Amino acid sequence: MDWNEILERVCSLVKEDGRRILAMKRPEVFEKEGHANFVTSADLASQSFLLEGLAPLVPGAHFFAEEQEEHVLAPGYNWLIDPIDGTTNFMRGLRCSSISVGLVNNGKAVLGVVYQFYSDELFYAVRGKGAFLNGKPIHAADTPCDRALIEVGTSPYNTTFHAATAAIMHKALSCCGDLRRSGSAAVDLCAIAAGRADAFVEARLSPWDYAASSVILEEAGAQITSCAPFTLDFQNSTPVIAGAGEAFDFVCRTAAAVLSGEGGA
Ligand code: IPD
Ligand code: CA
Ligand code: CA
Repeated sequence: MDWNEILERVCSLVKEDGRRILAMKRPEVFEKEGHANFVTSADLASQSFLLEGLAPLVPGAHFFAEEQEEHVLAPGYNWLIDPIDGTTNFMRGLRCSSISVGLVNNGKAVLGVVYQFYSDELFYAVRGKGAFLNGKPIHAADTPCDRALIEVGTSPYNTTFHAATAAIMHKALSCCGDLRRSGSAAVDLCAIAAGRADAFVEARLSPWDYAASSVILEEAGAQITSCAPFTLDFQNSTPVIAGAGEAFDFVCRTAAAVLSGEGGA
């Protein structure tokens, strides 16, 4: 595989996709299963554009994309795609959404590209070759826990996790610097890779939300995992925790305690 060439082609594809999304005048909105969960015609157009453009890059690779009907991780190469991460932000004009494209080979993420198309910020990494933002190397910060910025995803579509999320937020607010919630998990995770925030926790995320960012994070010196068991399988929806240094240790401990029912606000 010529990883440089594949990376370059994925990067230009997501940039073109971002331009197309921004040019869509009045995308149609449809409801999905779950609490306040939506998909727009822009999500669907983005997914078709990406599937078509990615297919020739790694012949035989499978697709595991959010708006497909079936989500099965096949043996070998799989493209894990979130055509718009931050759909609610996109619908409301909050200008914080991204396109997330990850490549997983036999359960290991090897390449990740995340494009925040409003701010024109392109995050990318290939396993073993470092993490970059718009061509410049990026590194996670190492902030003491009591000053750390903790990003919390609220698992909005799954009400089962709302109380646990509130408990995690309460604990983080009392022990750390402050909380953040952007509305795009991929943007949150890449912010840690760029040293803008220190840790992330969300009680449930799907593989397309974190696959691309997982490579970017690890190449930037941060960690990402699930919680009890502490391993990501890129197949199921699971808790996701990420971060660096003390802040990562804090979210690991807190998420494990709260999600196993032992922690409280
Ligand atoms: C959502 C966003 C949000 C997170 C949700 C995700 P979507 O993705 O990443 O930040 O809290 O859990 O599902 O639906 O906008 O692609
Ligand atoms: Ca998503
Ligand atoms: Ca999405």
